[in-house]
Amino acid sequence: MKDLAGQLSDAAGAAFAGLGLDPALGAMRRSDRPDLADFQCNGAMAAAKAAKRNPREIAQGVVDALSGHPLVASAEIAGPGFINIRISTAGLAAMAEAIAADKRAGAISADQPRRVVMDFGGWNVAKEMHIGHLRSTIIGDSLQRLFRFMGDDVTSDVHLGDWGLQMGQLINEVKLEQPGLPYFDAAFKGPYPKESPVSIEDLERLYPQASAKSKADETRRNEDRQATAELQSGRPGYRALWRHFCETTRVSLERECAALGVTFDLWKGESDAQPLIPELIDDLKSRKIAELDDGAWIVRVARNSDKKEMPPFLLVNRDGAAGYHATDLGTILDRKRTIDPQLSLYIVDQRQALHFEQVFRAADKAGYMAEATLEHLGFGTMNGKDGKPFKTRAGGVLKLQDLISQADTAAEARLTEAGLGADLPADERTATAHKVAIAAIKFADLSNVRTTNYVFDLDRFISFEGKTGPYLLYAAVRMKSLARRAADEGVTPGAIAIELDAERGLVLALDGFGDAMRGAYDKRLPHILCDHAYSLAQAFSAFYAAAPILAEKDPVKRASRFALTLATLKQLERALSLIGIETPDRM
Ligand code: ARG
Repeated sequence: MKDLAGQLSDAAGAAFAGLGLDPALGAMRRSDRPDLADFQCNGAMAAAKAAKRNPREIAQGVVDALSGHPLVASAEIAGPGFINIRISTAGLAAMAEAIAADKRAGAISADQPRRVVMDFGGWNVAKEMHIGHLRSTIIGDSLQRLFRFMGDDVTSDVHLGDWGLQMGQLINEVKLEQPGLPYFDAAFKGPYPKESPVSIEDLERLYPQASAKSKADETRRNEDRQATAELQSGRPGYRALWRHFCETTRVSLERECAALGVTFDLWKGESDAQPLIPELIDDLKSRKIAELDDGAWIVRVARNSDKKEMPPFLLVNRDGAAGYHATDLGTILDRKRTIDPQLSLYIVDQRQALHFEQVFRAADKAGYMAEATLEHLGFGTMNGKDGKPFKTRAGGVLKLQDLISQADTAAEARLTEAGLGADLPADERTATAHKVAIAAIKFADLSNVRTTNYVFDLDRFISFEGKTGPYLLYAAVRMKSLARRAADEGVTPGAIAIELDAERGLVLALDGFGDAMRGAYDKRLPHILCDHAYSLAQAFSAFYAAAPILAEKDPVKRASRFALTLATLKQLERALSLIGIETPDRM
């Protein structure tokens, strides 16, 4: 469906062409002065410059040509040659009807669907989650929803950190606690127990313990390195135990993801890239893309045009170990072979920007994947009120589970305060509070420009007032309850007619959906969708305040306003679903 700006641009483009000028000059956009106009076109000034003609004269020609157009109520020239357009009520009504009839509620689709890989989540087995992982998960999920809805073939991969030194540390820590387990007996022939000897709680307890010891004691650190090396070279007992660590972590993460409403297509990890690394090393050495430098194998990725220092990509370090760089390059090769993506998005903390730059350049230099198809989408941190990355009150790192349960509790309290949901059955009320909680967390995160930092403030996030997730849920619920009442009263939607300013405003808001999707999609910036959802809800609020809907006496107006409400509900729910927010039926 073409939005009003698109339709107007076509019409104005034809008018410019009729004057012997470039039709691209007809581009229309939302007016900077909504009090004066709905749309504006600045093409006459550019045209005048190029053709050495008078801009107002050109504008007059365009305005004359547009005058009879069914979308145009008025076309006027302002200042040096701005063309200001007011949309006709018939044009607005037709747009509203089209959105009401559209299964996709006015959403656009990609011109050219692509195979896209999204790498997000990125938690580490056993290590605690940090705020970067939470943001990665929320932003990545909203992007995967948007890209899929646009028509792309998206594969999301959680890319677990399952291959580092923490594994050797854990193995040794478990060995201290449960030395009799068969995993540590090199002579054991198997099979190893199916049940994990450690729970997620054990892992959460053991890892900090192990890492503290490793840090404090050099002998222990060497043992941990040794265990890691043995694990990585395939010692069966260590592999079996490691699989338990990964599986246990994964089960717990899947539970947390379910609570957040986030899914992944692939639960691969850094370990999945390891089988490709020997090949990678051989290949880069034999083609002389990698070179030996002070005992390490590196790929030089610096360019003359670089404004900052660009250290080389590290393929193999001086100890002969392949690290994070090699793992990511191996993963690129793996994805190339299994998915062959046309675009790969890495939704990872801004602090890893240099890492990805090096990896992408190396991938390009190696001819595995073109740099232009690899994008790092960095983001800022969520800070505490002290301006430092958010910690729990006890000063510890945040656990996702705790954050969610904190938000659940706060949501319950807010519902009570607002006198909402009092008559719901207990389980529905709990489910509703959970939706409010998740909406609060996600909207607070996504409504900020991705790259900026923001301050964690649960009280503000969970408020039903202001630009918040709960406000938007409340708006949707209000429309749903109106729809239920309409059904009870036998009111059905009818032809849409536009009469009041608030109705105009609402249709203009609805018309903005496609453009918001386009912006969020092209720039990978979910806040643009958040802004749209919020302005739609506000426009609905104004409409609701200005016009009686079910209370309207005139049945034709009533049916029109009800139809407009349903179209708004459909689009609001769609927009929210694209940022991962689900609306309850009642509150
Ligand atoms: N596990 C990493 C970390 O916690 C993030 C992984 C990001 N993805 C990637 N392909 N490197 O920092």
